[in-house]
Order: sequence, then C-alpha cells, then structure tokens
Amino acid sequence: MITVLEDMRDGVCEDGICRAGEVLRRGGLVAFPTETVYGLGADALDAGASAKIYQAKGRPSDNPLIVHIADWEAIERITVDRPAQAKLLSDAFWPGPLTMILRKSAAVPYATTGGLDTVAVRMPDNPIALALIRAGGGYIAAPSANTSGRPSPTMAQHVAEDMDGVIDMIIDGGPVSIGLESTILDLTEETPTILRPGFISQEMLREVIGPVEMDRGLLAADSSVRPKAPGMKYRHYAPRAPLFIVEGDREKVQEKINALTTLERESGRMPGVIATDETSGSYAHAIVESIGSRADERSIARHLYAILREFDRLEVSVIYSESFETPQMGPAIMNRLMKAAGHQVICV
Ligand code: TXA
Ligand code: MG
Repeated sequence: MITVLEDMRDGVCEDGICRAGEVLRRGGLVAFPTETVYGLGADALDAGASAKIYQAKGRPSDNPLIVHIADWEAIERITVDRPAQAKLLSDAFWPGPLTMILRKSAAVPYATTGGLDTVAVRMPDNPIALALIRAGGGYIAAPSANTSGRPSPTMAQHVAEDMDGVIDMIIDGGPVSIGLESTILDLTEETPTILRPGFISQEMLREVIGPVEMDRGLLAADSSVRPKAPGMKYRHYAPRAPLFIVEGDREKVQEKINALTTLERESGRMPGVIATDETSGSYAHAIVESIGSRADERSIARHLYAILREFDRLEVSVIYSESFETPQMGPAIMNRLMKAAGHQVICV
C-alpha cells in the first residue's frame, strides 16, 4: 500500500518529511511536489535506488535522471570542471525551474546518468522538495512521477493514478505552480544549449550569460536531427486519442475545428477540443476544455497535462487543439503539445 502524506498543502510538516527522508535513505521511492511537476525521488548516489525509478516508471535505462539539490555547495560533490556560468545561473535562477548539464564526478553512479559522463542538476523552488532533499541525504534523483509516456503529473492524484502499488510514498503538496518541466541547459557545449525549453526562456538565460543556443534536434519537426537530451526523443506526454494541432488565423481555426468535430459526431464518436477562455464558447460539437486565458500564459502551461489526462478519462475519439504561441513560455508549451500530437499539425 502506498502512503499518501496529505498534510503538507499548507506548509512543511517536519514529522512527515522525516518519515519520507528515512524512506529515501533506505533506498525507497517517494513522490513529491516541485514547482514544475511532481517528481519521483530516490537517493541519486545509490545505484540500486536509481534503478528502482526506471522500473517503477517503465523508463528506458538510457534516459538519465536529474539530481536535485538544496544548496549551491552540494554541487561540488557531484560535478567537476564547472564553467563560471553555472554560478551565475544559480544566483539568477536557483531555486527555480532550471536544470544544468555539467560534467559528473565519480560520486554519481552511471545508473543515475544513464551511462553518461555528464549529470543534470537542479535546485527546485518548493519548500517541501527542499526539506525532503535535505532529509534524504542531499541528492535526490527525480524524473517526473508519471508512467513513462504519460503526461507529467501536476497534482498528487495524477501520481497515485500511475504509481499506486509501485512506490512507497507520495507527499501531497497540492497543485504545482508552473506545470511544465524545467528548462534544461547544457553547459558542456562550447555555446550553452537549451535541450528542453521551459519557464526560463532563451532570452532570460541570454541576459545572464550571453549567447545561448536551442538544440537543433528540438527545432526539427522530423526525426532527422536527434535531440541531445535522451528523453526528448521518446513520444511523450501522449494522450490515448490522436491529437491534432490546428494552426492559422483564429476564425479559420474555429471553422476548421467545428467542421472536423461535426464529421466526428456524425460518425457516432465524441471528439475533444482544447480551447481558451476566449474561444471555448465557439465550439458546439465536442467536449471542450479551456486551457486558460490567452492573456495569462502561466495558466495555459499549468493546465496542459491535466487536460490531456482528463481526455484520457473521458475516452474521446480524437482531440483538436488550438496552438499557443505565447511570449515567454510559448516554446515550452508548443514543444510539449507538438510531442503529444506526434507533430500532427493541420494548417488552415
Ligand atoms: O522539472 C523537472 O525537471 C522535473 C522535476 C521533477 O524536477 N523533472 C523532470 O525529469 O522532468 P525527467 O526525467 O522527466 O526529464 C529529465 C530530462 C530527460 O529528457 C533526460 O533525457 C534529460 O533530462 N537529461 C538528464 N540528464 C541528462 C544529461 N546528462 N544529458 C542530457 N540530458 C539529460
Ligand atoms: Mg518526464
């Protein structure tokens, strides 16, 4: 039976953190909230504990884990040859939704890094996460706490759906605040390179360290260029129904989606539509979920994964989504949506 600690929505419970820290130090698995998504934690310096994460998630073993730390000084034990940018970025964005790829020290087992000589490091901006990292020994490997291939969990309920019977404990800290995984920045390249877009944008990084590139494997719609982050090559975040993104002029998008959903209903099936507060009233022939307001991109990011899960539950036959090119998080939102859609785009 999984233990769900539900008493931490309104603050950190020292007793609960102690119990969870003990589970981690014994080599067990604890799911916990961060500001981005829920993580599935294990002691990052214990190869056997890391291996359990791969098993619980059904995750390919070449897909490395992020090591979560709670203090800047902790980075010294797990990395070598750090460039000066690492400290600048830490001062600017940690604790926060930025993961840095650095060269690993011998203290980090290959079981945690998927066999790589580099390690991903992040300091999450969540008081429960920071307290748990300290209680668990200082180094917690944590991928998103979903079954591999499903949308990442943005509330404890999602973790329970995927992980009941498989892990030891879930700490419920309520819904997360960002809702998309951290920005991953590779500092082992000549020019720092974004391997996964997130809340911290290319522009925000450039303001602190100068030139920053976007991994070419991310930009390619086909698979001819391989993304450098192993996890980015897998189909991810995928709902069970086929998902299509409909792009173009707003009115034409609405017309097209209405035409497609009408056809679907005439065939006796129930389609889903991902719309916004501004447009959700325009669709009549589908189950319509509003992802948030176009004026508030954080609301769009926060609701994406929950809506994909909701459409699984409702067993819709097909999903049509508007597209969301917002200023700061647009690349991150569209990267996740494109992956969920398997790059199926209808241009109108
Ligand atoms: O916001 C987040 O980053 C969340 C929370 C829980 O912190 N974690 C998360 O972990 O998203 P995960 O395992 O779902 O995604 C980690 C990504 C994968 O795409 C993986 O391939 C990449 O980071 N990665 C990890 N270590 C790497 C390395 N040494 N080099 C390149 N990519 C790496
Ligand atoms: Mg993940």
